[in-house]
Amino acid sequence: MPAEFSGEAKKRIEEIRSQYPTAQAACLPVLHLAQDEFGYISDDAVGLVARALGLPASHVWGVVTFYTMYHRHPTGKHTLMMCTNVSCMLRGGYDVLHALERKLGCKVGETTADGEFTLIEEECLAACADAPAMISGHKYFLRLTPDAAIKALDEIKKMPADHIPLAKRGSS
Ligand code: FES
Repeated sequence: MPAEFSGEAKKRIEEIRSQYPTAQAACLPVLHLAQDEFGYISDDAVGLVARALGLPASHVWGVVTFYTMYHRHPTGKHTLMMCTNVSCMLRGGYDVLHALERKLGCKVGETTADGEFTLIEEECLAACADAPAMISGHKYFLRLTPDAAIKALDEIKKMPADHIPLAKRGSS
């Protein structure tokens, strides 16, 4: 991972910072930016975000480890965040999760051999009324069955990668 944010990213961080009343409030969007730039939030990325916002690294660390949408390790091109919390579990969430494991040939927390998908077991995605639910990128997949989830993989493959650095936007 580069030891610094790119010029574009630094400019964007300034813009983000100007839109929020405090550095703490800007921490979430800047972490999203860092994840887009570097693909995941490494220890180095935590330090960069802390420095960019003038915050203690412990604060940034606390935010990163609280929210599951920040990935602490490299992921595939697309993350499949499959909910197995109560509503989803009661409506077959584990059947969907296990069908995805079988289809992808990888277990929860792993990335497929071709680097296309990382399968993540998630807590509630706030879509309980339409359980079982999964998020990939910015899209929700609702009322999933095992067959529907496997069919969704083709659609997800055609979507842009979850994290694209600012300098590469529009070129991939
Ligand atoms: S329990 Fe799965 S979305 Fe709420």
